[in-house]
Amino acid sequence: MNSALQSPSLCKAYEPYFRIGAALSSRLIADPELAEIVCRHFSSITADNQMKPFSVLNLENTLAQGDPCHAAVDFTRVDALLSFARDHGIPVRYHTLAWHNQTPVWFFKEKWENDFSAPFASKEVMLARLENYILDVMSHVNTCFPGVVYTWDVVNEAIEPGQDGPGLYRTRSPWFMSTGQDFLPAAFRAARKGAAPGQTLCYNDYNAFDPIKRDAIIDMLKTLQAEGLVDTMGMQGHYVLQDLNVAACETAARAYAALGLKLQVTELDIHCNSDDAAHATALTEAYRSWFTMMKQLKAEGIDIEAVTFWGVTDADSWLPGFRREPSFPLLISADRKAKPAFEAVLEAARS
Ligand code: G3I
Repeated sequence: MNSALQSPSLCKAYEPYFRIGAALSSRLIADPELAEIVCRHFSSITADNQMKPFSVLNLENTLAQGDPCHAAVDFTRVDALLSFARDHGIPVRYHTLAWHNQTPVWFFKEKWENDFSAPFASKEVMLARLENYILDVMSHVNTCFPGVVYTWDVVNEAIEPGQDGPGLYRTRSPWFMSTGQDFLPAAFRAARKGAAPGQTLCYNDYNAFDPIKRDAIIDMLKTLQAEGLVDTMGMQGHYVLQDLNVAACETAARAYAALGLKLQVTELDIHCNSDDAAHATALTEAYRSWFTMMKQLKAEGIDIEAVTFWGVTDADSWLPGFRREPSFPLLISADRKAKPAFEAVLEAARS
């Protein structure tokens, strides 16, 4: 396998179709070779963690501020990634504004208590905190880094069939517990207010190919569309090699596009727990057929904006930690070589 720096550029190969993106960590942008790999192969970037509420919200300053409806923000980590993007001319998808996970517990509590058992703030207060937070982030980003962010993940993972909520909403989310489902349109209304011209607003979720979850997401998206609040459906794309069902991905992509929305695949990886020859071949063919399907959809006129990998090399992947077993899910190996799967994705662009 060749170094990923010797391979033809992935994003150039897909230029006629859609952007090819990657999620980056702070460690990654500090490594000159990885930064070079990013600049060569990716035409869209996002942050794996640095732009999430837990990276932005600051408890000490919030307490000092003394405003029950307004949390204090600290953009040090956000700015590091946006500076990298601006300096290298790579557009950014901002991940993510409202999420049940990686948002500090104190953000939801009446007196900003860092304590799970403390009472939630009232719905009215939570909706005000949400709007203030979103407007603070968007105003900072659009003022200090104009033109860098092209799309916002406004709400992440609000639907969860396993929790049996009304409309299959994720009921065990602190957002749902404090506001019911109202946080969702409220987040999009705030984002519409804060967005710069041309920026798109995205709803993002995993297992978006699953028919039950897909239909619940579609019902929810229709309510947002009735108010003109959403532009893009983000299908995350965390797949498992043995279970990947390309036909189900295609059916779901067509169903979201039929709503008149743009599409992004926002967090692509295929969990593969061995790098022996048989697994490497299966991974290669999985990526080949998945990208061939996406290219076909684009050729039919479906508005696919970008496909973003969740990581650059296997060394950055969240999967070994999450799955508690080895994982080799991406196109570039931990030692920064372009895998056969990388070549197959290039071939799919050319065929
Ligand atoms: O911040 C703490 C740090 O203080 C501590 O020392 C360290 C020790 O493990 O943990 C750090 O937190 C980790 C955090 O990432 C920040 O690095 C958590 O343990 C770790 O679980 C967390 O994982 C992230 C995960 O979201 C959380 O759900 C992954 O890196 C990130 O890739 C992943 O990304 C999500 C998307 O945002 C949404 N879709 C699913 C996707 C994969 O889970």
